[in-house]
Amino acid sequence: MGQVVSLCGWVNTRRDHGGVIFIDLRDRTGLVQVVFNPQEIDAETFAIAEKLRGEFVINAVGRVRARWEGNVNPNLATGEIEIVASELHILNRSATPPFAVDGKSNVDESLRLKYRYLDLRRPEMQEILMMRHRVMQIARRYLDEHGFLEIETPLLGKNTPEGARSFLVPSRLHLGSFYALPQSPQLFKQLLMVSGFDRYFQIARCLRDEDFRADRQPEFTQIDAEMSFVDREVVMEVMEGMIRRIFAETIGVTLPDPVPRMSYDEAMNRFGSDRPDTRFGLELVDVSEVVANCGFGIFTNTVASGGTVRGINAVGCGEKFARREIDELVDLAGKHGAKGLAWMIATEEGARGSIVKFFAEEELRRLLEAMEAKPGDLLLFVADREKVALDVLGRLRLYLGDKLGLIDESRFDFLWVIDWPLLEYDETEKRYVAAHHPFTAPMDEDLPLLKTDPSKVRAKAYDLVINGYEVGGGSIRIHTREVQEAMFEVLGFSPERAEASFGFLLEAFEYGAPPHGGIAFGMDRLIMLLTGRDNIRDVIAFPKTASGADLLADAPAEISSEQLRELGLRLAPEVETGRE
Ligand code: AMO
Ligand code: AMP
Repeated sequence: MGQVVSLCGWVNTRRDHGGVIFIDLRDRTGLVQVVFNPQEIDAETFAIAEKLRGEFVINAVGRVRARWEGNVNPNLATGEIEIVASELHILNRSATPPFAVDGKSNVDESLRLKYRYLDLRRPEMQEILMMRHRVMQIARRYLDEHGFLEIETPLLGKNTPEGARSFLVPSRLHLGSFYALPQSPQLFKQLLMVSGFDRYFQIARCLRDEDFRADRQPEFTQIDAEMSFVDREVVMEVMEGMIRRIFAETIGVTLPDPVPRMSYDEAMNRFGSDRPDTRFGLELVDVSEVVANCGFGIFTNTVASGGTVRGINAVGCGEKFARREIDELVDLAGKHGAKGLAWMIATEEGARGSIVKFFAEEELRRLLEAMEAKPGDLLLFVADREKVALDVLGRLRLYLGDKLGLIDESRFDFLWVIDWPLLEYDETEKRYVAAHHPFTAPMDEDLPLLKTDPSKVRAKAYDLVINGYEVGGGSIRIHTREVQEAMFEVLGFSPERAEASFGFLLEAFEYGAPPHGGIAFGMDRLIMLLTGRDNIRDVIAFPKTASGADLLADAPAEISSEQLRELGLRLAPEVETGRE
């Protein structure tokens, strides 16, 4: 108290009370009340104070004093004091902002993105970016303490197949050739292991020309790490330690020690997802055996042709849901690729619903028993190929969990999903694709299956899942030329194509490549979880819209014909006519 201070910041609000002017002055640390009392300052300074408007940038000099009792604001960190101004300078004026910066009003997102610099003045946005900063510093400190070296890898790289689509950059000095922007530092971090840097990390920007989803951006940030001479236990342990420290030091959440693990198969069978939200039940039940010989043709035929029948018991929803709500579930199942959604409602006598008539009494009893159904429960079934049945019910489960309010939002569930399949069969491409990426090592004991039964090969891969979000993923890598070549072969690469795309990696493996593995965490998703956001754009200072546009600077934008000519490029006629 009594101290004279000089404060700079923005005028958050201005109030006039009986000739006395009160300013809430704002900077990134918060608000403080500045008082201009004509009794206490000269007329000239008071006249300047009268000119102040919202978002003016000012410098106020004054004395700190306790607010009188009736004026204390318990909601404000500085609520017990105020500054009695003696001097005031307007550093800059401000036009009236297109939306209130005080953070309370509900503003259209495209307006927020166009005026992102104003949006970022809002306290909640400032807190998010400060959280992001803190997480980066904690990660850096932790990794440094554990012997990791921070090394940068190139942004201009080579276009390689597999993975997502890359952004391409035309080369002016090599006309007709293109760089690709990195989807991740994957190959370079592996090369660094070959170079002997044995522990590497980078807070790396990654660029992927993908179609957008709520938790994706075309450019995003990874905490990317790689280690030599380790097995998956070591990688998981060291990285768990980093996540443990981040959660403890930012929001005071303690991770279970060790973080629980679940195999991919168990996650799929119980939750219908490889990144299960384990905060609530509604688990899937395999009823294939129970219905294999029942009277309902759709079920028996599906099982006979190698498919599966899975169910969810939506406990109590038979009584709770109107017919319209059940129809919504059926629509949702269809939208996600199911041929139908069969349902019945358990009753005191048995069950009701249009498919019940197809079941003999004993068949129905066994089905209800398998579903642990009690009167009033709604039972939902999908009969299909395993992948479709699990996926559709996994999505219905999330929908129901949300709709029924079963998710405890204050809870954090951490889970390692391990024992992934190495490959997935892609029905549209009619070939195997890597479940993670082509550099993931198969389990040693499954290696012989790579040639004979690729779908059975498990990978030395691990994903960290938090509350149903895939927050990180990594693996032990292939580090020999032979295994990497075998992998490319299974993925349908000719030796020539493998050589043309990844020859440098195959060659590097011939010069003493150590066994190695690593992981990358999605920084943006981590920050979303730590700040309780469900929109990835909110945790990035200058994000893109869902269609990949930067509304602030207006990118992407056309370039001049001179620039095109310099790059040796010409637009296709149909694109050209679209330009003005
Ligand atoms: P992966 O592709 O699984 O692995 O990415 C690792 C993590 O990055 C985050 N992530 C994204 N975040 C925002 N927007 C996106 N478009 C996006 N894509 C991915 C996710 C994901 O878990 N090189 C490997 C890692 C390794 O094997 O070490 C890789 O990039 O949280
Ligand atoms: P239908 O005989 O096609 O009218 O289907 C009878 C009931 O079974 C309807 O409620 C359908 O939604 C449902 N149904 C159809 N195909 C499937 C399937 N593959 N899995 C689960 N239910 C299905």
